Amino acid sequence: MFDGGTPLATALSDSTTGHTPAVPDDQPIIITIDGPAGTGKSTVARQLAKRLGLGFLDTGAMYRAATAIFLDSKFERDEIGEFVSKVMGADLHFDWSMDPPVILAWDDPYDDRIRDPDVTATVSWVATLGELRRHMVRKQRIIAAQHPRLVTEGRDQGSVAFPDAFIKFYLDAEPTVRAKRRSEQLKLDGHDVDESEMLKRIVERDRVDSTRHDGPLICPDDAIVVDTSAMDVNEVVDHLEAAVRERLAATTRADG
Ligand code: DC
Repeated sequence: MFDGGTPLATALSDSTTGHTPAVPDDQPIIITIDGPAGTGKSTVARQLAKRLGLGFLDTGAMYRAATAIFLDSKFERDEIGEFVSKVMGADLHFDWSMDPPVILAWDDPYDDRIRDPDVTATVSWVATLGELRRHMVRKQRIIAAQHPRLVTEGRDQGSVAFPDAFIKFYLDAEPTVRAKRRSEQLKLDGHDVDESEMLKRIVERDRVDSTRHDGPLICPDDAIVVDTSAMDVNEVVDHLEAAVRERLAATTRADG
């Protein structure tokens, strides 16, 4: 279990760095990791990217930054056109010299603001906006064109943003396990958390994320599904890394 293994919040600082990069330096490669909240996607994606010598794209941070802009600019929910124009003007991108990369809007760091409770409470709604999603997907493809060696993580990366990705993963876990992980993470950050309340919020967020019209959370047909309920972070990363190495080897054999 994640609970008994490496804690999510500290896993990165212990991250394995001794692995031989599996991906040749000059090979473009997009690896997608999708799945619901609390599956450890971000931590796993960051560690996998490190092991393989790739960049890491946190698309949830982009939706969170847009949400911060929505709230801080005091837009009303019917001012979608104005809101999306403002997000376009903010030119969301990442400072890749930081670990993890820091999200920037108008070249200002937004990484502190995007985890605030008001952003977390509103982001699911913001992520339902088709006009915004189309802009985000365009932006993600521009980022990938500039950084073509990426592990990208979100809800629609394999299904919409990068349907031709080299390999796609879909991480899942029991809702109760995900609620426990999220609660423990927040407790580590000094927040007071009610686990049953967290479970309700996670189930509701799953519902909103999977039923929206544009870019719903779905498991792409060609994704490798990993149920992380009974796995710790390292086990998940090992599993994904092995799958990438296997596919690379198969591709090399097919090419040769
Ligand atoms: O992974 P996260 O909790 O930081 O994601 C924040 C929100 O953004 C969550 O409600 C799902 C949404 N999201 C999305 O709709 N599509 C993505 N590619 C990434 C995140």
